[in-house]
Amino acid sequence: MNRSQYLLLLSATLFSASSIALSPEAIEGNSLYPTCHVCHNQEMDPPLGPPMWGVQRRYKNNTIDDEDFVQSMTNFVKKPTLENALHDMAVERMGLMPPLPLPDELLNKIATYILEEQFPPPCVHWAIAVKESTERGDLEHARKEQGMLNRFCK
Ligand code: HEC
Repeated sequence: MNRSQYLLLLSATLFSASSIALSPEAIEGNSLYPTCHVCHNQEMDPPLGPPMWGVQRRYKNNTIDDEDFVQSMTNFVKKPTLENALHDMAVERMGLMPPLPLPDELLNKIATYILEEQFPPPCVHWAIAVKESTERGDLEHARKEQGMLNRFCK
């Protein structure tokens, strides 16, 4: 590799890294995130929790700012209730999330990570859901999941 190729590669790497640069709080949250990933891993069949991509979208659409996002998510995780659940489809399919009564300080960091991360669209999860709901004969649900695949994974 010559020098200009190297510089090009380096700037491409720095650019892509800086476009998803996490705050120090989120970096700490990332290191605690395996606590959530055990269930929120999009590749599980059957799933134990909804992929964070969709959870993040719902929280962004239903909170007024970053602080509200972090606070609402922390409150939910400590004590999930049907009333506070935004993800009706996940509640219906998997039941309400069990409470994880971790200290607020840790949950705030995790929620900050979930706020800032650019999760890839959960294409594996949708493909599993299409197969599973087709087998169950729930074609309406299969169509919904196929729609997500078509929209975000092509
Ligand atoms: C034992 C499995 C499990 C673990 C561990 C888990 N979750 Fe969940 N989570 C679920 C399930 C199932 C749902 C879908 C049902 C629901 O929304 O309550 C869910 C939903 C959610 C939602 C969406 C709630 C809504 O409906 O508005 C958030 C936010 C969330 N989880 C955050 C977290 C965070 C943060 C962690 C880690 C600290 C975590 N979860 C760990 C199973 C889990």
